[in-house]
Amino acid sequence: MASEPTAVLLTGASGYLGGSLLVYLLHKFDLEFRNVKLFTLVRKAEQVDKVLQLGGNVNPLIGDVQDAERMKNLIIENFVSIVIETVDARQFAVAQPFIEALSVVKERHNVPVHFIHTSGAKMFSSHVGVDQSNFLNDDGEVYSTIAGLDTRHPVMKQFVSLNNQIIDFAEEKGVRSYIVAPPMVYGPGAGFGNKISIQIVALVRVARALGQLFQVDKTDTTWPLMHIDDQVALYATVLSNILQLKAPHGKDGFYFSENGTFSWRSLSLAIVNALRRQIGLDSTHKLLVATDEDLNAMATVLGCDVGMVPVSLAGNCSVHGNNARKLGWAPQHGVGHLMSNVDDEVAYIMKADSTFASKPKS
Ligand SMILES: *[C@@H]1O[C@H](CO)[C@@H](O)[C@H](O)[C@H]1NC(C)=O
Ligand SMILES: *[C@@H]1O[C@H](CO)[C@@H](O)[C@H](O)[C@H]1NC(C)=O
Repeated sequence: MASEPTAVLLTGASGYLGGSLLVYLLHKFDLEFRNVKLFTLVRKAEQVDKVLQLGGNVNPLIGDVQDAERMKNLIIENFVSIVIETVDARQFAVAQPFIEALSVVKERHNVPVHFIHTSGAKMFSSHVGVDQSNFLNDDGEVYSTIAGLDTRHPVMKQFVSLNNQIIDFAEEKGVRSYIVAPPMVYGPGAGFGNKISIQIVALVRVARALGQLFQVDKTDTTWPLMHIDDQVALYATVLSNILQLKAPHGKDGFYFSENGTFSWRSLSLAIVNALRRQIGLDSTHKLLVATDEDLNAMATVLGCDVGMVPVSLAGNCSVHGNNARKLGWAPQHGVGHLMSNVDDEVAYIMKADSTFASKPKS
């Protein structure tokens, strides 16, 4: 008896991560071999054509993740049993309808159901108060570590418990949950929409607007990084193992990705030097420790609250991603790749970042 294909819904197809993952699944994953019917969510009707133009076997659906009723209906009508949420939405209200609808699919069709939530390395970093003297291993006590935190940062405090909340709710509903937590992701996106990630772009914007970058923390701090190709390969590895019911889930289902750490100081200096070569940025060679005034100026450039500047562009994050490696994931790019490609990365960002189009070189 030929079995029904497994219906997978990927959200965030117009985003950096989701768009790149969609291309990867369509062209490198062999959906047919794995008996997968792929659906993807786009917000606007005109994006349907863009998805179809990618070629490959995908069914675009129109809807907004904020529209809970629509999300539930799409999942139930299409018998979706795996949802891959690629946007770090930071709202339980976005995850909840997916999990509830998956639970309905499970009851009606008697199949295992799965929810992949995308979080971020920030949720496991110094910004939420994770002890940085030891590495936090994703196959270790992550759930209890997060549950025991006393987060001081007023904004991060609101978000830190979200992953555990999702795990608990999914468990209660009989849904297997997986938390993917990308660190700083770099490299050109492959999707039809946004092709650039957040953090390096923010550094480039600040450097262009203020003519220099700063060391935001009192001492140098380090953060893990991931090339976009390796990050999407991680999702694909997890998905492949979910289809075989072999991927750890629930409280054991954390998937950190890292392949070494970069220093914010070294990266900032490299970006300033790249901008000096490329657009003649007139900057001192020194990287000064940011004063309160500098932090305020950075916040203005980034359009965020001053308290969010360190959260965006600094901090320590010592995590180890063992779970995906155990399932066969092997990242190809490390810190050496980023540091020897900063010029390309900066040139690429300046071309792709529309905020530069209207801003002449000052
Ligand atoms: C970052 O880690 C270094 C080395 O462990 C430590 O000296 C420093 O205080 C940490 N800084 C922050 C902001 O966590
Ligand atoms: C990154 O991954 C590659 C291939 O798996 C490995 O050879 C390299 O040593 C890793 N780099 C770091 C910094 O861990």
